Amino acid sequence: MTPSIHILGAGSIGGLFAARLSQHCSITLISRHSTGNLNIRLTGNPEDQLVVSLPCEPPDSQQPLERLLITTKSNDTLTALQSISHRLTTSSQVYLFQNGLGSHFDILDYLKSSRVPNIALYAASTTEGANRPTNGEIIHAGRGQTWFGALNAIAKNSGCGSICDLFNQAGFRSNISEDIWAILWKKLAINCGINPYTAICQCRNGDILQQPLFLDTIDELSRELELILQVAGYPEDHETIKARIISVATATAANVSSMLQDIYRGKSTEILAINGFVAKFAAEHGLNAKINEQLTQRVLSLPASSKLIDSSGNTHGE
Ligand code: PAF
Repeated sequence: MTPSIHILGAGSIGGLFAARLSQHCSITLISRHSTGNLNIRLTGNPEDQLVVSLPCEPPDSQQPLERLLITTKSNDTLTALQSISHRLTTSSQVYLFQNGLGSHFDILDYLKSSRVPNIALYAASTTEGANRPTNGEIIHAGRGQTWFGALNAIAKNSGCGSICDLFNQAGFRSNISEDIWAILWKKLAINCGINPYTAICQCRNGDILQQPLFLDTIDELSRELELILQVAGYPEDHETIKARIISVATATAANVSSMLQDIYRGKSTEILAINGFVAKFAAEHGLNAKINEQLTQRVLSLPASSKLIDSSGNTHGE
């Protein structure tokens, strides 16, 4: 039987996964804004050229959800899950794809007192890069790696091999992690070292490497992250953290980060789940996170703009 997957949050990453996965399984998008079919034109590398028309249904439909990927922004995840919670059953599997940390804890708390406390909850972490220059068009801007892992005991028992296989079939390098929290903390460190710089300097991921703000603060930022990761139980030295930030920024050089895309669209960013989460965690543990705090404040004070020019002279925004 063809596996059925619902995707809640058809932004750039959700749309990228939807388009490629639809070649291997049945995909339905869940959207508050569209019903009927949603057309996605995927571009990027030659193997990415794809035009698909995917069914789209509203959250309040009654159809039970077998496998649900939530690819909304971290700030919207809890509300998104609440909007479809009546469709979850004891055999549902839910996969959280959010950047940063914070929403994962909110969802775990919410489920405890929900009508389905025992659904299998997983997290996924991806370094795939995708941009949505116009509605309906998605550019696969950088190939990455996707990790899946269990967030609760029932998910650990059920496993996530089949979703991981589907992602690999769809061309996304994917693996299962026995400790997805370790991956989430490491990814958090990557996002702390890329996203705010792209937002403040208004440049693509690769261009941060020449920006004075990045060059002046990346060592101190990496040291702050080293202390945080140590307290979180996932120790890593600052040189390794910095090297990984540079390597992901290089691998996704052409990408407009998710944070800069939010700013181009005049939307609120995920800064509070990224550097803001680190600053809050540091304060709670008596640690210094001055650079994370400063980057958070600078991103929060950026004017929301619906039309900006990027470093290649392209206009963004709707
Ligand atoms: O948030 C993003 O844009 C992505 O997580 C990453 C890996 C920084 C690539 O752009």
